[in-house]
Amino acid sequence: MGVSRTRHGPREAVEIASTDEIRALQLARLKTTLQSVAANVPHYQQAFVAHGVHPDDLRTPSDLARFPFTVKADLRAHYPFGLFAVPREQVVRLHASSGTTGKPTVVGYTAQDIDTWANLMARSLHAAGARAGDIAHVAYGYGLFTGGLGAHYGAERLGCSVVPMSGGQTEKQIQLITDFRPDLILVTPSYMLTLIDAMVQAGIDPRQTSLQLGVFGAEPWTEAMRREIETRTDMDAVDIFGLSEIMGPGVACECIETKDGAVIWEDHFYPEIIHPVSGEVLPDGELGELVITTLTKQALPLIRYRTRDLTRLLPPTARSMRRIEKITGRSDDMLIIRGVNLFPTQIEEIVCAIPGLSPHYVIHVDKEGHLDRLLIEVELRDESAASRRAELAREVAHKAKTLIGVSAVIEVRDPFALERVTLGKARRVFDRRA
Ligand code: DLL
Repeated sequence: MGVSRTRHGPREAVEIASTDEIRALQLARLKTTLQSVAANVPHYQQAFVAHGVHPDDLRTPSDLARFPFTVKADLRAHYPFGLFAVPREQVVRLHASSGTTGKPTVVGYTAQDIDTWANLMARSLHAAGARAGDIAHVAYGYGLFTGGLGAHYGAERLGCSVVPMSGGQTEKQIQLITDFRPDLILVTPSYMLTLIDAMVQAGIDPRQTSLQLGVFGAEPWTEAMRREIETRTDMDAVDIFGLSEIMGPGVACECIETKDGAVIWEDHFYPEIIHPVSGEVLPDGELGELVITTLTKQALPLIRYRTRDLTRLLPPTARSMRRIEKITGRSDDMLIIRGVNLFPTQIEEIVCAIPGLSPHYVIHVDKEGHLDRLLIEVELRDESAASRRAELAREVAHKAKTLIGVSAVIEVRDPFALERVTLGKARRVFDRRA
């Protein structure tokens, strides 16, 4: 793996500023943001009155806990542009997240917001190990999804030669990777697995491509998956986090030299961890729901936005800002099977640790009478393990029972039998109980 990439180029002063300097900057920017939404966004004017709070009540960043949360339903209720803090004419870009039901969530950016985003994505990619002069293959989807254009502007800003491939067209992706010899790829981890399989099927050794670095995000992925991808590709696999409501990719990103959780760019985002049920703010280090307040957004500043992502805030290491622990699930991804909580990533950890199995899996939940029934499809890595199908099924079932506490029926499919991700985010759970 590219050791020289851990030797960083110039970092911005704020990345290595003191905690006091960062807190002072956050306080000043929190005040400005609260004043801006109170002056320009009717929803916040009403919400602040209903909560009996005023922007002047914020004297230290921790006073933010007195202010109301914003949730996805607030964005939907003001669809499409009702939460914008600037006249629509100043919005130069719109993105939207595909809600599975109902209307999408619409987000807007001023020219300065786009500039900030490009800078933060460039900072993220630099932290991840990308350097000016690299060729960057962008396989996140372009369009209303923030992944493609967010990665694109950031990689250009850093000084990379950008290949705007977008998602899908797997054969063409492989051809361009072979011919253009990119240094890094930006893609969902699940689509990276699809690309690896396609390389193998085309007779290309994934360890021999030009790729040295993968910047993976947009969906949960585990340390076990990091090992899987790094081993099979000889790349460094680095985690990038973001969400459209807050900006898009680049809200937080791991540093290649530590790979110990994404650094949240605290000069632009104020993070809190709350208890998902009571809403109470939890101390750093405790597991809970990530809540983010934007500090510099013009078009769509959000106060205490509940991400639904479960993580903890960790102390600074490679940069002066706090990190988030690898996100292994969203509160709305959690399955409750006969009273036991299950995150899909727990199954990912199990299958990735069993050598005879590929990292692909699908979880089906339905009802058998009144009881929940869990069926997990896993897949042979190759034909050589075919004679051990029953043994592999028993091993997965045993680990699910002992590590998670759930009983599951395991079906071991042939190599390449499970459907691969070609566009967008992986869908691994089919819950038919409702
Ligand atoms: O997924 C933005 C993005 C694009 C991030 C490319 C990284 C790379 P949304 O479609 O709005 O935006 O989805 C945001 O995806 O709340 C998390 O639940 C999940 N997510 C994003 N990055 C990660 C990650 C983009 N690194 C939602 N690990 C977030 C785990 C992630 N989950």
